[in-house]
Amino acid sequence: MNGLDEDNSESEEELDTKLDLSNLTEYELKIADDVVASDDIPVSFEDIGGLEDIIEELKESVIYPLTMPHLYASSSSLLSAPSGVLLYGPPGCGKTMLAKALAHESGACFINLHISTVTEKWYGDSNKLVNAVFSLARKLQPAIVFIDEIDAVLGQRRSGEHEASGMVKAEFMTQWDGLTSANSHGTPQRICVLGATNRINDIDEAILRRMPKKFAVPLPSTHQRRGILKLILNDTKIDKDHFDLDYVVRVTAGMSGSDLKDACRDAVMTPVREYIRQKKAEGSLRAGVDARQVRGIRTSDFFSTKGNIHQMRESQTTALVNDLEEDEEDERRVESELDTSSERSRDDYHETVNAS
Ligand SMILES: Nc1ncnc2c1ncn2[C@@H]1O[C@H](COP(=O)(O)OP(=O)(O)OP(=O)(O)O)[C@@H](O)[C@H]1O
Ligand SMILES: [Mg+2]
Repeated sequence: MNGLDEDNSESEEELDTKLDLSNLTEYELKIADDVVASDDIPVSFEDIGGLEDIIEELKESVIYPLTMPHLYASSSSLLSAPSGVLLYGPPGCGKTMLAKALAHESGACFINLHISTVTEKWYGDSNKLVNAVFSLARKLQPAIVFIDEIDAVLGQRRSGEHEASGMVKAEFMTQWDGLTSANSHGTPQRICVLGATNRINDIDEAILRRMPKKFAVPLPSTHQRRGILKLILNDTKIDKDHFDLDYVVRVTAGMSGSDLKDACRDAVMTPVREYIRQKKAEGSLRAGVDARQVRGIRTSDFFSTKGNIHQMRESQTTALVNDLEEDEEDERRVESELDTSSERSRDDYHETVNAS
């Protein structure tokens, strides 16, 4: 998903005034379509559950050096923002969300480089466009160049691959290397390339090397699921006597943040559906509905719809759900296995990265 392009008409207006468009080359103008103003991005760090550690590190290693370079550059020239940051991990765990929030909170100019525009154009005036990405970023800095699903754009160079595509990657890497060198005033460039992928193995090793900061965003652990669920259900009416957050946290083991959001959405629908049915049965639906009369959600609502938790993770949760009362011990074991498997996937990723 490449969801940063929601309604950025306003942003373009603002950026037009901020940017002197007459100073841009033809190619920079094409890339300027992908520039998003940070205020127009509706995601902040507060909207992300369970990723506090990564957020803290992103702030310290990316946002502060980009936006307060004097603080860092004065103590050591090594303390500039990394020229590349990679977010990697399974689908639906918050990588794109983190990038959006980073753009929102950093106040840096955000170039959301679209795969489609880039790949379509790259074969024609490819190298000039790659140049334009970096020259525009230089003009707008501090800037973050975000490439979602980076494996699709800068994946492994395969034999038989279109020659132009290989040249584009080479150009991209050369330009990227230029970021580490200081400008004529001796101050380091304040530009960072931020990539996100769920297929780290498909990324060219030379590209990986240019992203020294790599953050694994794995499936959420028990603690993280609790954080995400609390956040998602924050403004939802809850039937406190019949809602057991701990139980929901347990049976959702192995689910991603996106799965949790879907499960909550389905659960929240149940009381509404129930209310409408009841109104219909009473024949008073036409008289109007009152949202305050809809009951709060209960634990059972998470299991009442087809396709929700039961079906979605059937293999993993059936044992937990059926045997919960009789065999709590067994349930804990299954859950810890699932948590270990998400840890293992993180370790696998680390190993892959370290090995490369
Ligand atoms: N940690 C989280 N906190 C809150 N919501 C989350 C979290 N992780 C995922 N979500 C929900 O899941 C949706 C999808 O997340 P996101 O697009 O960031 O996943 P992704 O890691 O980029 O996945 P993909 O690899 O498929 O692109 C978000 O819009 C959000 O609603
Ligand atoms: Mg994504």
